[in-house]
Formats: sequence, structure tokens, C-alpha cells
Amino acid sequence: MSISNHFTPSLSTLDLEMIRHVPPGGSWKNIPSTVSSERLKQIRRSFEAGEGSRSTYYGRLNPHKPSYTINTYFNRPGNGCFVHYGEDRMISQREAARLQSFPDHFLFVGSRGAVNKQIGNAVPPILAYHVAECLANKGVFIDLFCGAGGLALGFEWSGWRGILANDKDADALKTYEQNLTAETISGDIQQDLVFRAVVEKGREGFHAAGGAPTFILGGPPCQGFSTAGKRRSMDDDRNNLFIPYAALLKELRPDGFVFENVPGLLNMGGGEVYKLIREVLGVSGYSVSTWILQSELFGIPQRRKRVFMVGLREEQQVPPPVPTTSFEEKSGLFEKLPPTVTSKEALDDLPSLRPGQDGSNLEYEKEPTNPYQQLVRGQLTAREYISSLCIRRSAAL
Ligand SMILES: C[S@@+](CC[C@H](N)C(=O)[O-])C[C@H]1O[C@@H](n2cnc3c(N)ncnc32)[C@H](O)[C@@H]1O
Repeated sequence: MSISNHFTPSLSTLDLEMIRHVPPGGSWKNIPSTVSSERLKQIRRSFEAGEGSRSTYYGRLNPHKPSYTINTYFNRPGNGCFVHYGEDRMISQREAARLQSFPDHFLFVGSRGAVNKQIGNAVPPILAYHVAECLANKGVFIDLFCGAGGLALGFEWSGWRGILANDKDADALKTYEQNLTAETISGDIQQDLVFRAVVEKGREGFHAAGGAPTFILGGPPCQGFSTAGKRRSMDDDRNNLFIPYAALLKELRPDGFVFENVPGLLNMGGGEVYKLIREVLGVSGYSVSTWILQSELFGIPQRRKRVFMVGLREEQQVPPPVPTTSFEEKSGLFEKLPPTVTSKEALDDLPSLRPGQDGSNLEYEKEPTNPYQQLVRGQLTAREYISSLCIRRSAAL
């Protein structure tokens, strides 16, 4: 079986020279000053000016640890820690998708840039699976701001069924259609026509669910909040994607919702944005539980924090999922969990590449050597994978 999206970008001679100086787990700080690079000078200047450590720039993965957050720029060495731990090249799109816990059969569609965006923006499916497992009864969902479908995939793994998805990014929707079954509506949710179509189709779908729990999933990107903290700004700001989100809740009255976002949401406008969102959701008749989840503590080989606000119509708080893995040094005697999954464990059965190579026609290098590789190669379900971690846990106790 060949491996889709196993493509790594080419590198300039200078970038190649720079990354050769960086050991596993290292960064730009390992590149000698004799190497002449404008980007490097820029990074050094802002480091010296105290504008942050830039510690991940020109970073190389540490094979013995989870990766840093996979963002949408994992094709560029100067924007994070995305150099392969054992080869002088960037991680491939498939490798990035694996660090996000997408299975290898999940095909990403679109230009190289479009695929990077879909992968970097996604909720890790295994994290979404953990969230879905916290909800007592399985039901149907509408997926807003659906992207490639990482959040939806995790919910489907848990037994939920997607009935409708919306995004304005046509490539992301093609990927969604390729891999998931929900009907899709393409277009900007702020446009009346699109909004009405989502309401109409959503209502039909919820009605046809025959009493199964109905949910809205998805988090509106919240950069649009301009003058945080005043109710007026919430109402007036046409760029604010929370407005159509709240309006859809009002129109469709689902049994619950899962609102996912970046942790920065909690501090935006000195915390006022979050307060306002909670207030609006509360007024809409939902009790809301807020969780900050760290992917690496849930069997995912990546450090990535996300906020989840889970709303239920009932007066009920939902307890967050229980971590399945842990940084070993933090575990006490009685809370010993298996260690976090490392980037080498996640990637080392994939074929080697040289910069610029598309290895999508290559075969796996070897049989899977651990449960994570079995998961992404479709040999374990999400449930079996998580159970395998629990088995490792009881063996460790
Ligand atoms: C963080 S991504 C979603 C990731 C997705 N939940 C997943 O797990 O793969 C946010 C998405 O919102 C979409 N989006 C942004 N503004 C939008 C709008 N006005 N209408 C519809 N979709 C929008 C973007 O195209 C992007 O795909």
C-alpha cells in the first residue's frame, strides 16, 4: 500500500546548510554565526531584544519527545521545529498528519499550501475522540468551520454521525468529502444565503435523527474580536464569527455543542472575550464546561493545547477526559501513566525522503512496531489504541 501525502518540500542550499548544524532537539542556537543568513540575523536580533526565545525556530524534532505544535508553516525551517529528527529535510505532509493523529488512509486534497493549512489547522482526531467519549449518549452533529475534518473524525470514531458540514475553504471541503460522510455546504457562514442553507439542512437532519442527541461542533476562529469586553462590540463587529455561531444555536436549538478554540481565547481582551462568550452561551440556555486539554497527555505525539467549551441544555457540567499519557518526570508514584508518545515512535516506519521528494508511491519501511503506528495504519481502532495505553499503565503500576 502506498502512503498518500508523503511529500517533503525542497530546501534552498542555505537552509540545507543551516539545518545540517542542528542536532535532534536543537534549534537556530546551534547554527554558527559564520553561516550568513538574513533570517538568522533577524531571529538573533529579536532574541537579543528580548522578544521571546524563538527557541523552536530552525528546530529539529527530538526523536524521544512529542513534537511541538504542528502549525500551518511546517514546510518552513525558520518558522518552528519541523526538521526531521534523523534526515536533513522538513517533515512530510503525511508525517505532520501523523503527529496530528490522522490515519494514513486520510487523504488530503488540494495544492501543497492548501494541504499544509488543513493539517496545521485541524483538531487532532484522537483528542476529539477523547472529548466525544465524555458525552454520555452518541448522537448526530453539524460541523461548523469544519476544515479537513479532524474534529469530526474523532467524533465518528466514538460512534457519532456527522450530518452536515460547512466551511468557506473549497479545498478543505473536498478533503472532508473524501474522508467523511456528512453532506457539505461550501461558503462563508456570514453570508445570509449560506447561513439559511445551514439552518434548513441542519433542521432536516436533526429532525431525521429520530430523537438521538443533536450537537453543533466547531469553533469559529476568534481573531475577529476587535474591541473586546463591551457587549456592543459583540453585537456590532461584523467580522466576529461568534455571531453566526450563536445565531445558529438559537435557530437549531441542539441538545449541546462543542466549541473548540486556541487557548489564547481565554486571555483575549484581558479575559473579557471569554466572559462575554460564556454569557451569551449561558443566555442561550446552555450550561458550559470549559477544558484546556494538552494533546500530548492523550496519546498524541505532539504538544498542542486547545480549549473546549462543552455546552449542554441540561443543568449539568461534563467532567473533562482523563489523561492517558504523561511526561514521566511529572508522574507521582500513584499516578504513573505511560510516557508521552514520541515523534520517533510516530514516524519511524515511514520511508526516508530527500528534500523535494514526493514519496506517496513508496511502501512502508517496516511492520508497525508500536500501538501508535498500528493506529495510524488502521490496524487498531481509536478505542483499541487508548486501551493499549491503559494496559501499559497497569503494567507500569
Ligand atoms: C481551525 S480550522 C477548523 C479545523 C477543523 N475543526 C478540524 O478539526 O479539522 C477553522 C476553519 O474555519 C474556516 N472559516 C473561517 N472563516 C469562515 C467563515 N466565515 N465561514 C465558514 N468557514 C470559515 C476556515 O476556512 C478553516 O477551515
